[in-house]
Amino acid sequence: MNKKIEVGVFLPVGKNGWIHSMNTPYTPGTFDHVLEVTKKAEAWGYDFVLSPAIWRGLRGPSEHWMVSLESVTTSAALLQATERIKVMTTAHMTVYPPATIAKMITTLDQIGPGRVGLNLVTGASYLDLSHVGLWKEELSHGDRYRLGDEWISLVKRLWTEPVVTHKGEFFETNEGTMGPKPSVMPTLVNAGSSPRGLKFAAENCDIAFVVASDEPIYIESAKRAKSIAKELNKPAVRTFGLMQLVPAETDEEAQALLEHFNAGVDSICVDDVRAGYQQNPSNKDVSELSKVVGDDESDAVPDSAMVGSYESLARRIANTVLEADLDGVLIIVPDYIKDLDAVSQKLFPLLEQFGVSSNVGTEFAVAAS
Ligand SMILES: Cc1cc2nc3c(=O)[nH]c(=O)nc-3n(C[C@H](O)[C@H](O)[C@H](O)COP(=O)(O)O)c2cc1C
Repeated sequence: MNKKIEVGVFLPVGKNGWIHSMNTPYTPGTFDHVLEVTKKAEAWGYDFVLSPAIWRGLRGPSEHWMVSLESVTTSAALLQATERIKVMTTAHMTVYPPATIAKMITTLDQIGPGRVGLNLVTGASYLDLSHVGLWKEELSHGDRYRLGDEWISLVKRLWTEPVVTHKGEFFETNEGTMGPKPSVMPTLVNAGSSPRGLKFAAENCDIAFVVASDEPIYIESAKRAKSIAKELNKPAVRTFGLMQLVPAETDEEAQALLEHFNAGVDSICVDDVRAGYQQNPSNKDVSELSKVVGDDESDAVPDSAMVGSYESLARRIANTVLEADLDGVLIIVPDYIKDLDAVSQKLFPLLEQFGVSSNVGTEFAVAAS
């Protein structure tokens, strides 16, 4: 029997998405574009979209992420504009006090009842947050997740209890009330791939995201997420893989596309992405595999990207899902209009042949095309 997975789209809320190149396909980082992508994803049968939180534009001539959307407000508008698809929004727990996000999420649940997810992040790039004064110098990597533990347990109490008085290490409430309560508990996700991040996800979330590809090192990391959840007696925690795809009709065309992106690499930008992590005083504790950047300055695309024809990628995605025991995947594509259509129509339906199935490109396809 085929393994059924959920599939989501990692929304291009920042200019140029995840390709650090002058030759990146049109990805303006504007709301109009993100709305079009989300409507397309809903029509093609994707289960969810995830809107990441980006704070800083990068140096270099490609002006990577120099335009980017705020995640929660974007998600509100996307929920209003759609009917079925789940919208996951992102919040840095180190930036917002818990009550602010708890209130925003209950409001999102009024806009799209039962369709709201929350991606909880602690921030790994120093530069991403420090340039607008949002980096908390006093917190180590471990402290950030300790803060996260307290943060999310307080949010859950505000969502479920009538009156909450809390005096903790980081936060306080005094007979705090919050209404409306969410109609269903929002899906909670985290993408920390370090042992501490995985522990946070297992203890507090429904889904742990990991960067995924069919390289053994990524398969092992995904399996580790599941085994940590089991060790912590949380076997219900699901694991989803973030997969960056460079798809085309043939393997040769896909390879040529990768070379085209690399030919226009913005190495100042690649350096700046790295500098963002390196300047984090706790960088040694941040999972290396989750750093979405190439190995050297000639790589416009992260090393984890999978490059190939629709058929090769269908086989490789299915193998990764089965080997790594993933319950879902979240995709990045170069051209979020053209490539999203192509993979929905030509790649995802092929998963069936390789032992995996999803809703993408099946009964919903007619509506989208
Ligand atoms: C699917 C996915 C989504 C992520 N979204 C964000 C985000 O929106 N903002 C952010 O600062 N970091 C984001 N990250 C990075 C992680 O939150 C985390 O900082 C990183 O994986 C390092 O993990 P660690 O803290 O366990 O070392 C994301 C990672 C993945 C795989």
